[in-house]
Amino acid sequence: MTFPCLISQDAPPPTLPDPPIRLGIMASGSGSNMAASAQAIDSGDLNAQIAGVIYNNPSALVARRAQERQIAATLLDHRQFDSRAALDQAIITALKDYAVDWVIMAGWMRRVTEVLIDAFPQRILNIHPSLVPSFPGVRAVEQSLNAGVKVTGCTVHYVELAVDSGQIVMHAAVTVRPDDTVSSLQGRIQVQEHRIFPAAIAWAAFNSLVTENLVTENLVTENLVTENP
Ligand code: GRF
Repeated sequence: MTFPCLISQDAPPPTLPDPPIRLGIMASGSGSNMAASAQAIDSGDLNAQIAGVIYNNPSALVARRAQERQIAATLLDHRQFDSRAALDQAIITALKDYAVDWVIMAGWMRRVTEVLIDAFPQRILNIHPSLVPSFPGVRAVEQSLNAGVKVTGCTVHYVELAVDSGQIVMHAAVTVRPDDTVSSLQGRIQVQEHRIFPAAIAWAAFNSLVTENLVTENLVTENLVTENP
């Protein structure tokens, strides 16, 4: 038997003032979330610019996607570094060269250290394919299926040292179907990722402007949006 799941309203993302925020994207894989952010920028839904992409896997599709969009990309292959901290230091140098305001981990499959976190305080976001704090770490979708949850989803959150932890910016819920496989469930979660990722970036950036008293509108920092609004 399948039970109905939680439903609530979409919250439209805030409009960010000029100048557009500069995003540094960190990715290890296909870069579909990077592409979703770029599309949101193109369509005027996110007042931002992707200043550069950092990737750690020479064959990552994200490099091709960046090239197609004429976005600068830097390969920092983790195998070329003696330690996580040394890799993070190189990432910081590249991100500072790109003059980024926000660091966006869009499928970055490496643990980061306090070296990176301290360099961009409250300015690093991550997307994870579960309802954080459930199922952190690798194979989150498989973990969710194995646990038999009826609702899962994805989360955009601030990055802290513990993997896939930190203040939640936005969730999207996805109902698990009885015949779901990892692949089918992952596909529906990704649809929601592409939807909430740009919106969550806007909310987080807006939140920091409010905190710095640069804008004064009311702020909602947590949103639960549904798969089928
Ligand atoms: C996403 O599912 C994200 O939740 C996880 O890694 C995946 C990246 O996908 N952290 P893509 O490279 O953006 O397509």
